[in-house]
Amino acid sequence: MSNIILVGFMGCGKSSVGIRLSYSVKKTFIDTDKSIEKAVKRKISDIFALRGEAYFRDLETNQLKKLIEDKEEHVISVGGGLPMREENRALLKELGTVIYLKANVDTIYNRIKKNKKRPLLQTPNPKETIKELLEEREPIYESIANYTICVDKKRFRQIIREICALCK
Ligand code: S3P
Repeated sequence: MSNIILVGFMGCGKSSVGIRLSYSVKKTFIDTDKSIEKAVKRKISDIFALRGEAYFRDLETNQLKKLIEDKEEHVISVGGGLPMREENRALLKELGTVIYLKANVDTIYNRIKKNKKRPLLQTPNPKETIKELLEEREPIYESIANYTICVDKKRFRQIIREICALCK
């Protein structure tokens, strides 16, 4: 299938890039977090608080399975933790071209610091949490990506130009 899937850490710009990219490549945009919120009629933070992370991770896998059945092609932005599950990695590969939007700790921290919507970063030292999680996740993102694009200090326009050149 030739969906374009954006993976990467929280705050790397997957949704902001994804929506703009979808206009450029004339595919519809899907954000798995938004699809989950719509499906269960709850915010991500409430899902974590009320049902726990494991339940949320099952919802992510269900969303990917639905997308596999979908005949239409999309630009898909997935939650930062979704590729950590092995089953999800196989589904992502099946879905299309995987692009890793790679951002460093400072870029991520600056983008998320005022936002309270991400349950995993509501810790006493979010920067340290980002550092630890990124160390664990980066090799996984790299292992599934067809292409990696460094997004630090880049405008959306430039990132989209790079993705379009790669996905021609
Ligand atoms: C998560 C990332 C979030 C959301 C949830 C968990 C993670 O999505 O799925 O808060 O584990 O990295 P974004 O990457 O879009 O922030």
